[in-house]
Amino acid sequence: MEVTLRIKRFNPELDTKPHFEEYPVDVEGTDRVLDALNQIKWYQDGSLTYRRSCAHGICGSDAMRINGRNRLACKLLMKDLGKKITIEPLIGFKIEKDLLVDMEGFFDAYKSVKPYLIADDAPSFGERRQSPAERARFDDTTKCILCAACTTACPITWTSDEFVGPAAIVNAHRFIFDSRDNGSGERLRILNGGSGVWRCRTIFNCTDACPRDIKVTEAIEQVKRALLYDQV
Ligand code: FES
Repeated sequence: MEVTLRIKRFNPELDTKPHFEEYPVDVEGTDRVLDALNQIKWYQDGSLTYRRSCAHGICGSDAMRINGRNRLACKLLMKDLGKKITIEPLIGFKIEKDLLVDMEGFFDAYKSVKPYLIADDAPSFGERRQSPAERARFDDTTKCILCAACTTACPITWTSDEFVGPAAIVNAHRFIFDSRDNGSGERLRILNGGSGVWRCRTIFNCTDACPRDIKVTEAIEQVKRALLYDQV
């Protein structure tokens, strides 16, 4: 079937502001949006710029706004999108070129919550053991691929650089509720600050946008409850 991709383009060396360009492409219904973008780049306009790597929903490189919603281009099938598809870069980030945005601030926020195991004690022989119930407490948030779809769907991040955003909180959650970790107090102190969880207004955009179906809003609420009731 023939569809038209309406893509927001911006070349900082030539343009003063972004504009839309349209590309007709012949696709199968089971092709992904990424296949259509590749077709344009490989056969129509080699200057079209976007990130992608694994093409299988694992690396998180190709999050973008597709028909107004944050999605991974490698997971959306053409048959589910209609004949005219609008593709834009994630909002809230500086556009480097076309669909490629500057994610430096996003990763700074991620790093600020210490997203790694902090363990003071030496592991017992072999490994740090954990029961299935203890593991289940943070199982959902281990699925994050850092695509930024949740953070850039959150309107709080559109108007303020202060908020660490849903993705950083999800990755803090992953360690706060890990029974092997000793850094929960430190992370909760960070998330109790001016850039932390209290900026969240429970809008659920983040949960809707997550391509891994992580219950992002619920994770944020669990961190809030941990702060209020000391429930770690
Ligand atoms: S290209 Fe890796 S998640 Fe889509």
